[in-house]
Amino acid sequence: MTARLLPGGPVAEAVFAELEPRIEKLVAGGHSPGLGTILVGDDSASAGYIRMKQEKAIELGLTAPHIHLGQDATQADLVAAIRDFNDADDVDAMLVQHPTPPQIDFEAALLEMDPDKDVDGLHPLNMGRLALSMPGPVPCTPAGIEALLAFHEVPIAGRSVCVLGRGTTLGRPLALLLTQKRPTANAAVTVVHTGVPNWPDYTRSAEIVIAAAGVPGILQPEHVRPGAVVVGGGVRYEGRKLLPDVDESFGEVAGAITPRVGGVGPTTVAMLFRNCVEAAERRTS
Ligand SMILES: NC(=O)c1ccc[n+]([C@@H]2O[C@H](COP(=O)([O-])OP(=O)(O)OC[C@H]3O[C@@H](n4cnc5c(N)ncnc54)[C@H](OP(=O)(O)O)[C@@H]3O)[C@@H](O)[C@H]2O)c1
Repeated sequence: MTARLLPGGPVAEAVFAELEPRIEKLVAGGHSPGLGTILVGDDSASAGYIRMKQEKAIELGLTAPHIHLGQDATQADLVAAIRDFNDADDVDAMLVQHPTPPQIDFEAALLEMDPDKDVDGLHPLNMGRLALSMPGPVPCTPAGIEALLAFHEVPIAGRSVCVLGRGTTLGRPLALLLTQKRPTANAAVTVVHTGVPNWPDYTRSAEIVIAAAGVPGILQPEHVRPGAVVVGGGVRYEGRKLLPDVDESFGEVAGAITPRVGGVGPTTVAMLFRNCVEAAERRTS
């Protein structure tokens, strides 16, 4: 069996194409949507991610206000920057690039953010909205995975999905999302983690397996049933080297699989901009 590839690039392009007229409408109405970015410190990889997001924002017709705090910035400095963006008319949504230097409490800083401007959907209020199926920004990687499966016409509704990992950016919100009552969700979701030593028993019985652990190579071909759909969400970086949870040996077992590079990453970025445009639409409506 040779697995069908599920690339994220075409999904992202379709999302950007759908956002284009919505951005034009906002601009024509006198409001340029703005994505505010905050970088704390001098990590070159983080600076690169911010640059990439700013360039994409400009390309899409958004504005991209930016605050760069030094490596020795205090928690109070970060809180002040977040409050500036909370009050700024030209910022509809914002993000603080993770990771932050060790003196910064990222979760505490997140609480200072206006939840309606939380582009990553990670504020506790937005997690609550997600749990209650209320409108609001949905964490980007989970939203991107739902969009990716829908785009490639992988049915989810009524099927068994096993998510490996219960982290706050991926596994937990993904499980909440895929159990919502919607044609592109509505799944029977099981979440496994370090508290479930026999997790392969669960992944092997699922029709769709989503790796969300951040442990390179954790999911092996013998952990899934032949023909299963395999989505690699978890990654770890060693320097610039990307080490995914799922390696390419799956090609022979899986029915469909996200590519090692260009799978969940592009859809995550697309969802960031969708969240930003939706935030602008909510603010101006
Ligand atoms: N592709 C993208 O654009 C993108 C975006 C966001 C995040 N990610 C990646 O997604 C991954 C998850 O992020 P996160 O913040 O949600 O996760 P996290 O907080 O790091 O949690 C990882 C989860 O994996 C579980 N896990 C770790 N080792 C395991 C093992 N040996 N056996 C079973 N379960 C294990 C942990 O279980 P316990 O809860 O029991 O500790 C935990 O629930 C990370 O690799 C992150 O880089 C990717």
